[in-house]
Amino acid sequence: MPSDRVSSVPSAHDATMRGKFITLEGIDGAGKSSHVRWLGDFLRAHGGHNVLLTREPGGTPLGEKLRASLLSEAMHPETEALLMFAVRREHVAAVIAPALAQGVWVVCDRFSDASFAYQGGGKGVDRRRLQALENWVHGEGASQSCTPDLTLLFDVPCEVARQRIVLAGRPLDRFEQEDAQFHDRVRHAYLDQARRHPERFHVVNGELSLAEVRAKLVHILADLT
Ligand SMILES: Nc1ncnc2c1ncn2[C@@H]1O[C@H](COP(=O)(O)OP(=O)(O)O)[C@@H](O)[C@H]1O
Ligand SMILES: [Mg+2]
Repeated sequence: MPSDRVSSVPSAHDATMRGKFITLEGIDGAGKSSHVRWLGDFLRAHGGHNVLLTREPGGTPLGEKLRASLLSEAMHPETEALLMFAVRREHVAAVIAPALAQGVWVVCDRFSDASFAYQGGGKGVDRRRLQALENWVHGEGASQSCTPDLTLLFDVPCEVARQRIVLAGRPLDRFEQEDAQFHDRVRHAYLDQARRHPERFHVVNGELSLAEVRAKLVHILADLT
């Protein structure tokens, strides 16, 4: 994990209260990464929180190594699902759970909903299998579970996302190289996740300008801070 993604060590005043866990989701090009740093700065400035920024797949030294394989090597969809959740288990155990327990707020660029969207919706892995893996990896009990407190789903039509990625001009990873139908299935699986978990999902129209999206985020975060 790049060192600049992690904020300073938590201060003592946060030690008693569990931090909040915020995840960013959406298809490639939806705008997640464009808001991660801003979100961290906003939560520090307006909430006075210690904030840790992280991402998936990855987030730990082992996870970042496996990320390179996951984004480049062909594999069976269930292998992909198992590896994603294995990387996530390490991320939860080594980074996310300890940070939350110390009162740090954690902002993660993709998390388990991405597995339901990509490996489930995109590749057809049985949702019950994904659900079993999620139950295992998130842990038990309201106070211990690493199910997000808030999930921001950036929703954009696939053509808009594609145009942005092409404009950005960087090489495409294995998922970004999939066809329009794949990305459409992923988008709709994300929207299905949002319908199943209305208590934590906020769907944000990612077609708005960056400034307009941020104004929406400020509004949503007001409920949490
Ligand atoms: N709301 C927006 N309006 C216009 N361009 C955007 C917007 N959000 C992101 N972009 C651009 O789209 C590209 C993909 O954004 P990014 O944040 O990397 O998406 P993601 O992390 O969801 O794949 C970037 O070049 C970014 O500058
Ligand atoms: Mg990104």
